Amino acid sequence: MSDVKVYDVPAEWAERAYVGDAEYRRLYAASIADPDAFWGEHGKRIDWFKPYTKVKNTRYAPDVSIRWFEDGTTNVAHNCVDRHVGKRGDRTAIIWEGDNPAESRHISYRELSAEVQRFANVLKAQGVARGDRVTIYMPMIPEAAYAMLACARIGAVHSVVFGGFSPDSLAGRIADCASSVVVTADEGLRGGKPVPLKLNVDAACAKAGGVTSVIVVRRTAAAVPMTAGRDVYYDEAAKSVAAECPCEEMGAEDPLFILYTSGSTGKPKGVLHTTGGYLVYAAMTHQYVFDYHDGDIYWCTADVGWVTGHSYILYGPLANGATTLMFEGVPTWPSVSRCWEVIDKHKVNIFYTAPTAIRALMGSGEEPVKKTSRASLRLLGSVGEPINPEAWEWYHRVVGDERCPIVDTWWQTETGGILITPLPGATKLKPGSATRPFFGVKPEIVDADGKVQDGPCAGNLVIADSWPGQMRTVYGDHQRFFDTYFAAYKGKYFTGDGCRRDEDGYYWITGRVDDVINVSGHRMGTAEVESALVAHEKVSEAAVVGYPHDIKGQGIYAYVTLMRGEEPSEGLRKELVAWVRKEIGPIASPDLIQFAPGLPKTRSGKIMRRILRKIAEDDFGALGDTSTLADPAVVDDLVANRQNRA
Ligand code: WT7
Repeated sequence: MSDVKVYDVPAEWAERAYVGDAEYRRLYAASIADPDAFWGEHGKRIDWFKPYTKVKNTRYAPDVSIRWFEDGTTNVAHNCVDRHVGKRGDRTAIIWEGDNPAESRHISYRELSAEVQRFANVLKAQGVARGDRVTIYMPMIPEAAYAMLACARIGAVHSVVFGGFSPDSLAGRIADCASSVVVTADEGLRGGKPVPLKLNVDAACAKAGGVTSVIVVRRTAAAVPMTAGRDVYYDEAAKSVAAECPCEEMGAEDPLFILYTSGSTGKPKGVLHTTGGYLVYAAMTHQYVFDYHDGDIYWCTADVGWVTGHSYILYGPLANGATTLMFEGVPTWPSVSRCWEVIDKHKVNIFYTAPTAIRALMGSGEEPVKKTSRASLRLLGSVGEPINPEAWEWYHRVVGDERCPIVDTWWQTETGGILITPLPGATKLKPGSATRPFFGVKPEIVDADGKVQDGPCAGNLVIADSWPGQMRTVYGDHQRFFDTYFAAYKGKYFTGDGCRRDEDGYYWITGRVDDVINVSGHRMGTAEVESALVAHEKVSEAAVVGYPHDIKGQGIYAYVTLMRGEEPSEGLRKELVAWVRKEIGPIASPDLIQFAPGLPKTRSGKIMRRILRKIAEDDFGALGDTSTLADPAVVDDLVANRQNRA
């Protein structure tokens, strides 16, 4: 890959950054040589009520057990809020930018402390105790952060469900963790349009059962039905509680949150993160990857419903006493200049977003960007999916005025924080590469037989040892945790991603190698979309694959076989798209549906997805061996009626 452009570390970055290249190499080597010493030292970046004496106690085989700082006690809300009040109580913790550009607010650490304590007391008044699960289904408003931190404060475990998920998806997540309390808002507001959050919660509760309390934050003041004895408005409940709420003393390995994520099979998994290691890792990566210095204004555009929002809007930045911007709206409303206008309005220094947003904005050309100043910007970040070099170059040249390094951060819900990334003062950049591992992270590339590859190579990405931010289990199903991540390659964590390593030791993530697709940086299990489709009365069989999509990265391509007697039609196509939206949520809407009289199957009845992927990619010249198919003729029909003509 000699034609790859390399971007040197800008001189001012080498100067100002915490870590330069030599220092990166030294710290990295030390972190791998002696993880106990390295993390024993860096674990001290957070306050501990009772200091830990043990650091790392982890194994991946013959079974899996992951414990960090296990005899220490602490509290995440103490670290993210209370400890900053004395030193910088008046500093802004959260800048909230509303959907409407005329609405924004600054919340200081002192105010945040008061809000979190009050919210915690409302939760307690609703019967929430240490260890209980609280489902949070909220728009991007400060109360979402208060609710999460309030849970952490009293030792409750939050499960945030993205507001774009359907009532059914929400019900499944409420039921899986037996959550009896739900925090929501009357409505959300995105791009000027209301989102019926409370109505969705009502439908989810009817389906899930077991919810005894719904706390409703007023956002739009829309009239919503309130069930007597179950539903309370937050502002009313808050009037009758005390202002102060002490922090629970939590063990390092006590659960902090559950976050559901899609896998290649079955229902979404409840990824469980715990307290001490997670916070140390989120805070440390936030500081070094974004080279965060006191006073910097930092903006991550994610939603708190995803792990990026947990680790890099909330926990990492607040643990560092940072100013974090929380944006309620969308990048294209009221205009495609919105992000750049927000950057100018709040003098944002560090901007972290997803490639899909960049690609969408690229389509409107340079003028909507160039007409804004962006002079405050110093660093750009990317996350969620591979960034194609064209999008990288545009981000660098047009948004960053060729002045700002881009940190392309590779990680997963499971990893809790960033694992492979440039450090802006240390790492030369290659567009499209996530570059090198963060401290303490030991990536390896294995072939199909699990043999570790040396030097430049390609294969499956595994991580050979544990890091503090790693998930600890699948909620309620430890066996599934082992089977999903530790069974494929003995003694290693399997990421599910394909990867290439180049001659400089840089990592290039090539995308998922399992039946997970990445749509606009959101993870979707093809099995989930398939089960939604076959739940429709007219559908007999369905197979879902990803295909290259200009803006979303991957689009959802569904092959559908109808029940005998049903006829394909445009109307039915629309009906099925609407059905999947209703069953899972808009992010799962199929982009293309192909009605197929039959699916390519082996004689033992297994669907040959490889063939379906090729056809969806409009690359059917190389379908490979189809001789093992039960009925090779179905392939001709699939090719003839393919929906993506690239
Ligand atoms: C999957 C994880 C990490 C928070 C957001 C997504 C893909 C993520 C990158 C990147 C290439 C990336 C991987 C990964 N991914 N970041 N910088 N370059 N691919 O979290 O929903 O758990 O998805 O997103 O395929 O496995 P997630």
